[in-house]
Amino acid sequence: MNIRVANVNDLQKIQACNLLCLPENYQLKYYMYHALSWPLLSYVAEDNKGTVVGYVLAKMEEESDDEPHGHITSLAVKRTYRRLGLAQKLMDHTARAMIENYNARYVSLHVRVSNRAAFSLYKHTLRFEIYETEPKYYADGEDAYAMKRSLVAFAKENDVEPQDRNTFFAEKEKGRKGKKGEEKIPITGKVEEVKS
Ligand code: ACO
Repeated sequence: MNIRVANVNDLQKIQACNLLCLPENYQLKYYMYHALSWPLLSYVAEDNKGTVVGYVLAKMEEESDDEPHGHITSLAVKRTYRRLGLAQKLMDHTARAMIENYNARYVSLHVRVSNRAAFSLYKHTLRFEIYETEPKYYADGEDAYAMKRSLVAFAKENDVEPQDRNTFFAEKEKGRKGKKGEEKIPITGKVEEVKS
């Protein structure tokens, strides 16, 4: 079994794996958008014949004024290849690439509240934390857990060199971040509105 960065030639195989494993499916151009915009962040697991048996599709969040962070759009491993540690490895490769290339301080994702396998992987193996439950997030009305994993902790534990050490390891400024629609109060004392 081999894990490597996904390239544009893998996208149809990734899409096929996604269709087999998940009800959240995407047009090919959405996979292409990931591969062209963040070519270092998505990975595939392949068997010794080069068949894609799992993937993680990942990106950076760009619209946010929060600290740099990545997002897992989709993760899946074909049924007969599960419980071999592939998802964990795919997620760790992506985490490392987000830190090294984009200085990402955390990674986020959504998961169905009923998805016990994925939730267990995220919560217990990868140490994601729930920060919000989003009601009716999915098209069929199911709620999602919004989860985050600290990449600062991951980098320290795994000796990952960030793109910029100074900002990556800097203590987060207290009082700087507000939720959308709330005031944020920078350390300078200047008060600005956060546009929602
Ligand atoms: N039940 C309980 N715990 C589980 C399960 C399970 N079915 N699967 C994984 N885990 C936990 C275990 O702690 C496991 O460690 P262990 O095997 O030593 O006990 C640990 O996660 C690591 O598991 P991996 O072998 O790395 O996970 P796997 O390669 O089997 O893939 C995945 C897990 C991706 C959730 C797979 O079951 C799958 O493809 N499911 C369908 C698609 C899916 O739900 N994707 C996630 C949707 S959310 C999103 O995409 C952001």
